[in-house]
Amino acid sequence: MKNSQTRYGVVTKLFHWTIFLIFLNQFVVAITMLNTPAGYTQGALYNWHKSIGLIALGVALLRYTWRKTTPLPDWAPNLSPREKKTIHWVEKILYFCMFLMPISGYIFVMTGGYGVNFFGQWQLPNFLGENETIALLAQWTHRITAWLIVFTLFTHWGLGIRHQIVHRDRYLQRMLPFTRQR
Ligand code: HEM
Ligand code: HEM
Repeated sequence: MKNSQTRYGVVTKLFHWTIFLIFLNQFVVAITMLNTPAGYTQGALYNWHKSIGLIALGVALLRYTWRKTTPLPDWAPNLSPREKKTIHWVEKILYFCMFLMPISGYIFVMTGGYGVNFFGQWQLPNFLGENETIALLAQWTHRITAWLIVFTLFTHWGLGIRHQIVHRDRYLQRMLPFTRQR
């Protein structure tokens, strides 16, 4: 279950791929809802995006707690000091975005007066009140953070692909389920 000295355990992998699926869902649904004419379908897409986004905040909290309480495996072999530094920053930024994204989304819809109809079933109370300036700031934070995630994930994937293809050191196997690694 836990990470060992040489590999990531089941729980870390489960968190990693759950967040991947949630982020994929969030980006696809966001792009779709922003390009759908106002109406029932658009409303349903917004509800889905906001509800899953709030679930993402809970998952991020659990993942971060797990990360802080479980030792990490050793570095993958073949990483240069520069790559280690890059990985360190990529991980920091991605964890930061896992929180900033749902929090900024939540602040935007609450202070903007749109609210959250959780899975179309439950209108969440608005503890924040409405404030146009804060709503605008939160909206832009949400948009800019989305781009920061895209840029950071390209770096994350680039490094993985380079090691897999150029170094052929089974780097991606570290995070894939059902794999053995050296
Ligand atoms: C991990 C969580 C989340 C991710 C990855 C995510 C991702 C995105 C992305 C990529 C966009 C399109 C940005 C753009 O306009 O360029 C977007 C828009 C939006 N998101 Fe999220 N989101 C998340 C959580 C939330 C939450 C929790 C809420 C509200 C409770 C929310 C509300 C919105 C709204 C209302 C928009 C439309 C913004 C606009 O009209 O400019 N999001 N989101
Ligand atoms: C196709 C998608 C992805 C692939 C192939 C992938 C691959 C990997 C691999 C191979 C590692 C292990 C790196 C190492 O130990 O040196 C890793 C770790 C990590 N990945 Fe990804 N990743 C993907 C998507 C994501 C996404 C969407 C996020 C977050 C939004 C993310 C965040 C992280 C973090 C924070 C770590 C460090 C370990 C941890 O704390 O969980 N990854 N990833």
